Amino acid sequence: MNAIVHKNLGEIIDYSNIPSHVAIIMDGNGRWARKINKERFFGHNRGINSVKESIDVSIELGIETLTLFAFSMENWKRPKSEINALMTLLSSSIENELKSIIENNIKLNVIGDLDLVPKKTRDKLLNAIIKTKNNDGLNLNLAVSYGAKQELVRAIKIISHKVKKNIISEENIDEETINEHLYTENSKNVDLLIRTGGEFRVSNFLLWQISYAELNFQKVLWPDFKKYHFLNAIIDYQNRTRRFGKIHA
Ligand code: IPE
Ligand code: IPE
Ligand code: MG
Repeated sequence: MNAIVHKNLGEIIDYSNIPSHVAIIMDGNGRWARKINKERFFGHNRGINSVKESIDVSIELGIETLTLFAFSMENWKRPKSEINALMTLLSSSIENELKSIIENNIKLNVIGDLDLVPKKTRDKLLNAIIKTKNNDGLNLNLAVSYGAKQELVRAIKIISHKVKKNIISEENIDEETINEHLYTENSKNVDLLIRTGGEFRVSNFLLWQISYAELNFQKVLWPDFKKYHFLNAIIDYQNRTRRFGKIHA
Protein backbone atom coordinates (compact mmCIF):
# COMPACT_ATOMS: atom_id res chain seq x y z
CA MET A 1 0.00 0.00 0.00
CA ASN A 2 1.30 3.44 -0.76
CA ALA A 3 1.85 6.37 1.55
CA ILE A 4 -1.19 8.28 0.28
CA VAL A 5 -3.53 5.44 1.24
CA HIS A 6 -1.91 5.35 4.70
CA LYS A 7 -2.29 9.09 5.07
CA ASN A 8 -5.99 8.97 4.22
CA LEU A 9 -6.69 6.12 6.63
CA GLY A 10 -4.64 7.92 9.32
CA GLU A 11 -6.92 10.93 8.91
CA ILE A 12 -10.07 8.86 9.48
CA ILE A 13 -8.78 7.40 12.75
CA ASP A 14 -10.27 8.78 15.94
CA TYR A 15 -7.30 9.12 18.25
CA SER A 16 -9.58 9.43 21.28
CA ASN A 17 -10.92 5.91 20.70
CA ILE A 18 -7.90 3.68 20.29
CA PRO A 19 -8.32 0.13 21.66
CA SER A 20 -6.12 -0.33 24.75
CA HIS A 21 -5.43 -3.98 24.11
CA VAL A 22 -5.15 -5.47 20.63
CA ALA A 23 -4.51 -9.19 20.12
CA ILE A 24 -3.55 -10.72 16.79
CA ILE A 25 -3.71 -14.31 15.54
CA MET A 26 -0.95 -14.15 12.95
CA ASP A 27 -2.15 -16.85 10.56
CA GLY A 28 -1.41 -17.77 6.95
CA ASN A 29 2.39 -17.96 6.74
CA GLY A 30 2.45 -21.48 5.30
CA ARG A 31 -0.16 -20.75 2.63
CA TRP A 32 1.61 -17.53 1.69
CA ALA A 33 4.81 -19.48 1.00
CA ARG A 34 3.09 -22.35 -0.82
CA LYS A 35 1.39 -19.86 -3.14
CA ILE A 36 4.80 -18.89 -4.47
CA ASN A 37 6.11 -22.46 -4.42
CA LYS A 38 8.37 -21.97 -1.43
CA GLU A 39 8.75 -24.00 1.76
CA ARG A 40 6.39 -23.06 4.60
CA PHE A 41 9.31 -21.71 6.56
CA PHE A 42 9.82 -18.96 3.99
CA GLY A 43 6.43 -17.60 5.03
CA HIS A 44 7.27 -17.70 8.73
CA ASN A 45 10.46 -15.81 8.01
CA ARG A 46 8.66 -13.20 5.95
CA GLY A 47 6.04 -12.87 8.69
CA ILE A 48 8.64 -11.20 10.91
CA ASN A 49 8.32 -8.02 8.80
CA SER A 50 4.60 -7.92 9.58
CA VAL A 51 5.36 -8.35 13.28
CA LYS A 52 7.72 -5.36 13.17
CA GLU A 53 5.23 -3.25 11.24
CA SER A 54 2.43 -4.12 13.69
CA ILE A 55 4.61 -3.11 16.63
CA ASP A 56 5.46 0.21 14.94
CA VAL A 57 1.79 0.94 14.23
CA SER A 58 0.85 0.05 17.82
CA ILE A 59 3.42 2.51 19.16
CA GLU A 60 2.32 5.18 16.70
CA LEU A 61 -1.34 4.84 17.69
CA GLY A 62 -0.64 4.67 21.42
CA ILE A 63 -2.03 1.17 21.90
CA GLU A 64 -1.13 0.08 25.46
CA THR A 65 -0.89 -3.66 24.93
CA LEU A 66 -0.31 -5.78 21.85
CA THR A 67 -0.60 -9.56 22.24
CA LEU A 68 0.71 -11.64 19.35
CA PHE A 69 -0.05 -15.34 18.89
CA ALA A 70 3.27 -16.76 17.70
CA PHE A 71 3.03 -20.46 18.57
CA SER A 72 0.09 -22.38 20.01
CA MET A 73 0.01 -25.38 22.30
CA GLU A 74 -1.51 -27.30 19.38
CA ASN A 75 1.36 -26.23 17.11
CA TRP A 76 3.55 -28.72 19.03
CA LYS A 77 1.73 -31.33 16.91
CA ARG A 78 3.41 -30.03 13.73
CA PRO A 79 6.39 -31.85 12.16
CA LYS A 80 9.61 -31.60 14.19
CA SER A 81 11.36 -29.80 11.33
CA GLU A 82 8.79 -26.97 11.30
CA ILE A 83 8.82 -26.69 15.11
CA ASN A 84 12.62 -26.46 15.13
CA ALA A 85 12.61 -23.86 12.38
CA LEU A 86 10.04 -21.77 14.25
CA MET A 87 11.94 -21.97 17.55
CA THR A 88 15.18 -20.98 15.83
CA LEU A 89 13.44 -18.11 14.07
CA LEU A 90 12.01 -16.96 17.40
CA SER A 91 15.36 -16.90 19.16
CA SER A 92 17.23 -15.26 16.29
CA SER A 93 14.51 -12.59 15.89
CA ILE A 94 14.59 -11.79 19.61
CA GLU A 95 18.36 -11.61 19.51
CA ASN A 96 18.44 -9.37 16.43
CA GLU A 97 15.66 -7.08 17.63
CA LEU A 98 16.48 -6.79 21.33
CA LYS A 99 18.40 -3.54 20.92
CA SER A 100 15.56 -1.93 19.02
CA ILE A 101 12.97 -3.34 21.46
CA ILE A 102 14.85 -1.67 24.32
CA GLU A 103 15.31 1.61 22.39
CA ASN A 104 11.60 1.69 21.62
CA ASN A 105 10.78 1.42 25.34
CA ILE A 106 8.85 -1.83 24.77
CA LYS A 107 8.15 -4.08 27.73
CA LEU A 108 8.24 -7.67 26.54
CA ASN A 109 6.26 -10.37 28.26
CA VAL A 110 5.88 -13.97 27.14
CA ILE A 111 2.67 -15.85 27.82
CA GLY A 112 2.51 -19.63 27.57
CA ASP A 113 4.17 -22.75 28.90
CA LEU A 114 7.86 -21.94 28.51
CA ASP A 115 8.88 -25.26 30.09
CA LEU A 116 8.08 -26.89 26.74
CA VAL A 117 10.24 -24.44 24.76
CA PRO A 118 13.82 -25.52 23.92
CA LYS A 119 16.33 -24.05 26.38
CA LYS A 120 18.14 -21.85 23.86
CA THR A 121 14.94 -20.12 22.78
CA ARG A 122 13.63 -19.96 26.35
CA ASP A 123 16.83 -18.30 27.56
CA LYS A 124 16.66 -15.66 24.82
CA LEU A 125 13.04 -14.91 25.72
CA LEU A 126 13.74 -14.74 29.47
CA ASN A 127 16.74 -12.48 28.88
CA ALA A 128 14.60 -10.10 26.78
CA ILE A 129 11.92 -10.04 29.50
CA ILE A 130 14.52 -9.10 32.13
CA LYS A 131 16.21 -6.50 29.91
CA THR A 132 12.89 -4.74 29.20
CA LYS A 133 11.20 -5.08 32.57
CA ASN A 134 11.59 -1.41 33.50
CA ASN A 135 10.34 -0.10 30.16
CA ASP A 136 7.00 1.68 30.30
CA GLY A 137 6.03 2.01 26.64
CA LEU A 138 4.13 -0.61 24.64
CA ASN A 139 3.39 -3.84 26.53
CA LEU A 140 4.18 -6.57 24.05
CA ASN A 141 2.86 -10.00 25.01
CA LEU A 142 4.25 -12.77 22.88
CA ALA A 143 2.14 -15.93 23.09
CA VAL A 144 4.50 -18.87 22.71
CA SER A 145 3.51 -22.44 23.58
CA TYR A 146 0.22 -20.85 24.56
CA GLY A 147 -3.23 -22.38 24.88
CA ALA A 148 -6.15 -20.65 26.60
CA LYS A 149 -7.64 -23.84 28.04
CA GLN A 150 -4.26 -24.88 29.43
CA GLU A 151 -3.87 -21.37 30.88
CA LEU A 152 -7.21 -21.74 32.68
CA VAL A 153 -6.35 -25.20 34.02
CA ARG A 154 -3.08 -23.78 35.36
CA ALA A 155 -4.88 -20.84 36.99
CA ILE A 156 -7.43 -23.14 38.65
CA LYS A 157 -4.64 -25.35 40.01
CA ILE A 158 -2.77 -22.38 41.49
CA ILE A 159 -5.96 -20.96 43.00
CA SER A 160 -7.03 -24.28 44.53
CA HIS A 161 -3.55 -24.73 45.98
CA LYS A 162 -3.82 -21.27 47.56
CA VAL A 163 -7.26 -22.11 48.95
CA LYS A 164 -5.84 -25.26 50.50
CA LYS A 165 -3.02 -23.23 52.06
CA ASN A 166 -5.50 -20.58 53.30
CA ILE A 167 -3.89 -17.89 51.15
CA ILE A 168 -7.21 -17.30 49.38
CA SER A 169 -10.64 -18.02 50.85
CA GLU A 170 -13.18 -19.70 48.60
CA GLU A 171 -15.84 -17.02 49.26
CA ASN A 172 -13.49 -14.33 47.96
CA ILE A 173 -12.86 -15.94 44.59
CA ASP A 174 -14.14 -13.61 41.88
CA GLU A 175 -13.31 -12.58 38.31
CA GLU A 176 -10.35 -10.56 39.54
CA THR A 177 -8.91 -13.68 41.21
CA ILE A 178 -9.03 -15.48 37.88
CA ASN A 179 -7.49 -12.48 36.04
CA GLU A 180 -4.63 -12.35 38.49
CA HIS A 181 -3.75 -15.99 37.93
CA LEU A 182 -3.64 -15.92 34.15
CA TYR A 183 -0.42 -15.35 32.20
CA THR A 184 -1.92 -11.98 31.21
CA GLU A 185 -2.26 -10.91 34.85
CA ASN A 186 -1.04 -7.39 34.14
CA SER A 187 -3.04 -6.79 30.95
CA LYS A 188 -6.55 -5.51 30.60
CA ASN A 189 -9.21 -7.45 28.67
CA VAL A 190 -8.75 -7.52 24.91
CA ASP A 191 -10.64 -4.77 23.07
CA LEU A 192 -9.88 -5.87 19.53
CA LEU A 193 -8.94 -9.32 18.24
CA ILE A 194 -7.61 -9.51 14.70
CA ARG A 195 -7.11 -12.79 12.83
CA THR A 196 -5.43 -12.88 9.45
CA GLY A 197 -5.50 -15.83 7.05
CA GLY A 198 -9.24 -16.01 6.47
CA GLU A 199 -10.29 -18.53 9.13
CA PHE A 200 -13.22 -17.65 11.39
CA ARG A 201 -12.05 -19.24 14.62
CA VAL A 202 -10.04 -18.36 17.70
CA SER A 203 -7.93 -21.56 17.89
CA ASN A 204 -7.63 -21.66 21.71
CA PHE A 205 -6.34 -18.10 22.02
CA LEU A 206 -7.19 -15.91 25.05
CA LEU A 207 -10.69 -17.36 25.62
CA TRP A 208 -11.26 -15.59 28.94
CA GLN A 209 -9.68 -12.29 27.92
CA ILE A 210 -11.66 -11.92 24.65
CA SER A 211 -15.07 -12.33 26.30
CA TYR A 212 -16.09 -8.83 25.13
CA ALA A 213 -13.53 -8.15 22.41
CA GLU A 214 -14.55 -6.86 18.99
CA LEU A 215 -13.56 -9.44 16.38
CA ASN A 216 -11.89 -8.57 13.09
CA PHE A 217 -11.22 -11.35 10.60
CA GLN A 218 -9.16 -10.57 7.52
CA LYS A 219 -8.43 -12.66 4.44
CA VAL A 220 -4.92 -11.28 4.08
CA LEU A 221 -2.18 -13.81 4.84
CA TRP A 222 0.09 -12.76 7.69
CA PRO A 223 3.21 -11.92 5.62
CA ASP A 224 1.07 -9.48 3.59
CA PHE A 225 -0.40 -7.80 6.69
CA LYS A 226 0.72 -4.17 6.59
CA LYS A 227 -0.05 -0.87 8.29
CA TYR A 228 -3.00 -0.45 5.90
CA HIS A 229 -4.66 -3.65 7.21
CA PHE A 230 -4.00 -2.74 10.83
CA LEU A 231 -5.49 0.76 10.37
CA ASN A 232 -8.51 -0.77 8.65
CA ALA A 233 -9.07 -3.02 11.66
CA ILE A 234 -8.87 0.01 13.95
CA ILE A 235 -11.38 1.93 11.82
CA ASP A 236 -13.67 -1.11 11.79
CA TYR A 237 -13.38 -1.25 15.61
CA GLN A 238 -14.21 2.45 15.89
CA ASN A 239 -17.39 1.90 13.90
CA ARG A 240 -18.69 -0.73 16.33
CA THR A 241 -21.08 0.07 19.15
CA ARG A 242 -19.80 -1.61 22.29
CA ARG A 243 -22.86 -2.11 24.46
CA PHE A 244 -21.57 -4.60 27.02
CA GLY A 245 -25.14 -5.83 27.45
CA LYS A 246 -26.57 -2.40 28.12
CA ILE A 247 -28.94 -0.36 25.96
CA HIS A 248 -27.54 2.58 24.06
CA ALA A 249 -29.71 5.58 23.40
C1 IPE B 1 0.77 -19.03 11.35
O1 IPE B 1 0.86 -19.50 10.06
C2 IPE B 1 2.04 -19.23 12.15
C3 IPE B 1 1.97 -20.33 13.11
C4 IPE B 1 0.91 -21.01 13.42
C5 IPE B 1 3.20 -20.69 13.78
P1 IPE B 1 0.61 -21.01 9.70
O2 IPE B 1 1.88 -21.76 9.86
O3 IPE B 1 -0.52 -21.57 10.49
O4 IPE B 1 0.24 -20.89 8.17
P2 IPE B 1 -1.00 -21.56 7.43
O5 IPE B 1 -2.22 -21.24 8.23
O6 IPE B 1 -0.74 -23.02 7.37
O7 IPE B 1 -1.01 -20.90 6.10
C1 IPE C 1 -3.22 -20.33 15.25
O1 IPE C 1 -2.97 -20.69 13.93
C2 IPE C 1 -1.93 -20.25 16.00
C3 IPE C 1 -1.04 -19.16 15.63
C4 IPE C 1 -1.27 -18.23 14.76
C5 IPE C 1 0.21 -19.14 16.33
P1 IPE C 1 -3.10 -22.21 13.46
O2 IPE C 1 -2.81 -22.24 12.02
O3 IPE C 1 -2.28 -23.08 14.34
O4 IPE C 1 -4.63 -22.52 13.77
P2 IPE C 1 -5.63 -23.56 13.11
O5 IPE C 1 -4.91 -24.88 13.06
O6 IPE C 1 -5.96 -23.04 11.75
O7 IPE C 1 -6.81 -23.56 14.01
MG1 MG D 1 -2.53 -21.63 10.19
